[in-house]
Amino acid sequence: MSKQKVIICHDLSENLRSAILSCPHDKLFVLVDEHTRQLCLPLISNMECIQQAYIITIGAEDIHKNLETLAYVWKELGDHGATRHSLMINLGGGMVTDLGGFAASTFKRGIQYINIPTTLLAMVDASVGGKTGINFNGLKNEIGVFSPAKYVLLDTEFLKTLDTRNLLSGYAEMLKHGIISTESHWAELLKFDINHIDYEELKRLVAQSVQIKEDIVEQDPFEKGIRKALNVGHTIGHAFESLALELNQHVLHGYAVAWGIVCELYYSFLKVGFPKDKLRQTVQFIKENYGVFTIDCKQYDRLYEFMTHDKKNSAGIINFTLMGEIGDIRINQSASKEEILDILDFYRETMGC
Ligand code: GLY
Repeated sequence: MSKQKVIICHDLSENLRSAILSCPHDKLFVLVDEHTRQLCLPLISNMECIQQAYIITIGAEDIHKNLETLAYVWKELGDHGATRHSLMINLGGGMVTDLGGFAASTFKRGIQYINIPTTLLAMVDASVGGKTGINFNGLKNEIGVFSPAKYVLLDTEFLKTLDTRNLLSGYAEMLKHGIISTESHWAELLKFDINHIDYEELKRLVAQSVQIKEDIVEQDPFEKGIRKALNVGHTIGHAFESLALELNQHVLHGYAVAWGIVCELYYSFLKVGFPKDKLRQTVQFIKENYGVFTIDCKQYDRLYEFMTHDKKNSAGIINFTLMGEIGDIRINQSASKEEILDILDFYRETMGC
């Protein structure tokens, strides 16, 4: 897989102009959702090349990350003269970069695209690493391809307009990057005051976080081995997310990951000796900032069922990535049903639900 260029922007228009110049194309398309069309597009629409671009607008939020929206984007591209030599810019959160990346990578067998993520979650995770796709048949990101953007332009100015919940959602993925990297990065993430943000410091942390992800993706772009490190907190996190969806509760992805981290670090402590004090400090941070997703023991079987459907599993075995220490990654771990029930008991006792 070719390597995308990730640029931490100082001047978005200038960085975008040179990115576009280095991607020869016949026609330019910009994909936005109804929110980013209003809030983010004006930041680049003074550029001459954007004024000439065709803008495709889709519905916002995960509910539109589906086949229908994808078909609409393909149709818009086709109806407005896109060829294999066209270029698409995806301006938005993870839904826009995932769906837009997939639309671009499949239209006429693939056109080039540039991601401009506008949420923290998209900056540190979704837009980097070449995973693209849509939800299908009730399952998240069920259909997609690995196909990297040519450029990912990160402008942390967008974060100044993001509400705290969306910031925290992205921050959970940063915390995960801290856990899988170094003790000093993990510790500075726990110290950062998310309620009184120092944006210069956040920009530095975001750059470091993205670098951690990029280093891992470069070693294993197709998730055969070490890229599974990025799944810490996600096996149980996805189960929480699916249960919330089923109960019509709106839970942001990063919140589910944070609660998944509580569970999976506890299991790391039990199974591979993750230090108890670091478990306690991480759990405390998550409890204080993310609150709790309340579950009761009647929902254990349903949560277990969701875990058995996780696409990271093989041969029916639930796949976990555990941590022996901060930075000591143990991929391809499994858990019995009894162990999973014990983890959920710990979650309820510790989080007070
Ligand atoms: N979101 C995890 C990955 O990109 O592999």
